[in-house]
Amino acid sequence: MSSATDIPTEDTVDQGTIANQYSDKGGGDGRIVAAAICAHIPTMVLPVEVRMKMGGGRDTTLVAGLHRIREKLDRVSPDTLVIVDTHWFTTTEHVVAGASRYKGIYTSPELPRVIKDLPYDYEGAPELAALVHQVGKERGVPTTNATNGSIAREYPTLNMLRFLHQGEKVLSVGVCQTAELDDFLEFGSVIAEAIRRSGRRVAFIGAGALSHKFYPLKEIPNHLGFSAEDVISKEARAMDESIIKAWERGDHASVIDLYPEFKRFSPEAFFAHYLILAGAMGGRSWHDRGVKMSDYESSLGTGEVHVWFDLQRGLPS
Ligand SMILES: [Fe+2]
Repeated sequence: MSSATDIPTEDTVDQGTIANQYSDKGGGDGRIVAAAICAHIPTMVLPVEVRMKMGGGRDTTLVAGLHRIREKLDRVSPDTLVIVDTHWFTTTEHVVAGASRYKGIYTSPELPRVIKDLPYDYEGAPELAALVHQVGKERGVPTTNATNGSIAREYPTLNMLRFLHQGEKVLSVGVCQTAELDDFLEFGSVIAEAIRRSGRRVAFIGAGALSHKFYPLKEIPNHLGFSAEDVISKEARAMDESIIKAWERGDHASVIDLYPEFKRFSPEAFFAHYLILAGAMGGRSWHDRGVKMSDYESSLGTGEVHVWFDLQRGLPS
């Protein structure tokens, strides 16, 4: 009879050996070839007629925006998508999903009326996941490579795949809810080093919103539209627009420095989807400019936008 201690875990599987195998193959010349912040609102999967009705005759621009992002991805031919999933929370470490394949049927526990019985079947990126864990160990950054194919999937990842996936390997990355600004930046740097060693061509997607406060339940029916006027408050909208403007200037140092103030507006998942990406791109010394791929919109009060970053270099040296 087996006991719990017989079950192989990521600590009993030699992640270093796996990582080295792939690192040798990859030749250490991996690059981030694309970077974007993308909204993942459930509305995107609804039929256009329903979206138009919600928007009072106007559709969200987020659907067309993702199609434009896919066109941009086609020009840089990534072989791997790294997706920071802002609905996947962890507590004691940074976690990446490192199984070789994910297959199942998903119904959102949050919105079973909207996202339901959605089949998914995609290839993971186990070699990159193992490298992330190896680099984390080398640098003393707490990480886990979860190689369980049964780990729950979340719709930020699945919505990105619905619009952006063209057969690439996929690495979903969780958000450690006890991490702070420097932890997120450092974890991003760990992922960047893993990408460098992997030899992969990575599109790095932070799947999350800006300010993230919903209207109270009774008020939600009055705020179904996508207009920026419907964002929860003028102050939240102004803060979101400051962040977008700084992205457009390529002024990531300002965005990072604004973070303590931005936290007052409850950015989705502590803004980890951006901070991890920024950490991967060099943190305060990252200067690539952002380009809006959608309007800045409201989703039930939250601030939503797609921004593509025009990368001048693949990775910081
Ligand atoms: Fe969300």
